[in-house]
Amino acid sequence: MTLVALCSFKGSPGVTTAALGLAARWPAGELPVVVECDEAGGDLLARFRLETSPGLVSLAAAVRRGAEPGLVWQHTQRLPGGLPVVAGPAGPEQAHAALAHITSAGAAVLRRAADRPGTVVVADCGRLGPSSAALGILRAADVVLLLARSHDDSLSHVVANLDVAARWPWHPSFVLVGGGYPTSEVASTLGIEVIGRLPEDRHGAAALGGRPGRRSTPTQSPLGRALARIAAVAASRASTEPGGKQQVADSLEADPGSLSAGRRSSPHKSWEGVSR
Ligand SMILES: Nc1ncnc2c1ncn2[C@@H]1O[C@H](COP(=O)(O)OP(=O)(O)O)[C@@H](O)[C@H]1O
Ligand SMILES: [Mg+2]
Repeated sequence: MTLVALCSFKGSPGVTTAALGLAARWPAGELPVVVECDEAGGDLLARFRLETSPGLVSLAAAVRRGAEPGLVWQHTQRLPGGLPVVAGPAGPEQAHAALAHITSAGAAVLRRAADRPGTVVVADCGRLGPSSAALGILRAADVVLLLARSHDDSLSHVVANLDVAARWPWHPSFVLVGGGYPTSEVASTLGIEVIGRLPEDRHGAAALGGRPGRRSTPTQSPLGRALARIAAVAASRASTEPGGKQQVADSLEADPGSLSAGRRSSPHKSWEGVSR
């Protein structure tokens, strides 16, 4: 019943890892599927030595013939732990073309898959640019999670994109990653909603990336546990807020000017004003 989109701006890697962990730790009752919608090219194929097909390219080709709710599942492969994924092509040209098809009808194929009872579609939208094809997926999502490292360089990219984000017809929730500025300061200074923080956890990230070591399992690492908490918040939010599309339509009708990205009314201060 839920479409969750994860993305970042420049300078904040970790989206694919978070998408896998979020899906793996999604509360029981909804079956997760991860769809790799990264325009820069996918990570999963190489990381898990998957077959090139089925995946995002075969899904995009099938979308031309219709977008029935079960379609996404027909283009999945299973990761070693059993998680179903629709892997994106490694090449950016192919990834862009596939995403353009998938979003051409308002990402209906993902929305329909997510509307099936007991399903959560986790879309890994990678790094966002001003004209990313993945924006169409964010538009259809129930919950948009924007990952940002809490350091000057990545936060400066968040600041640089806040005005753009304010024009988006949805509310991103920020997830801070690793050390750096305290969560509350980032939230209040930038006027953004931060719903959680992920630890810097090399072993946990490696385990989620298919390289479990003696020190970490994919789900029981500090990173896995933090993702479980964020999954619980995202799941409860998605269940209390109506589906993304309807929400967007309603809010656009209500007041196009009110669609700020979860920001408070005051303009954001310059990032330099934040102290540790
Ligand atoms: N929270 C984290 N702590 C430590 N390393 C991480 C974390 N998240 C991701 N990584 C590592 O960073 C690299 C890039 O992560 P990935 O999830 O593929 O980023 P993206 O999809 O945004 O390019 C990988 O080597 C991954 O193991
Ligand atoms: Mg990635």
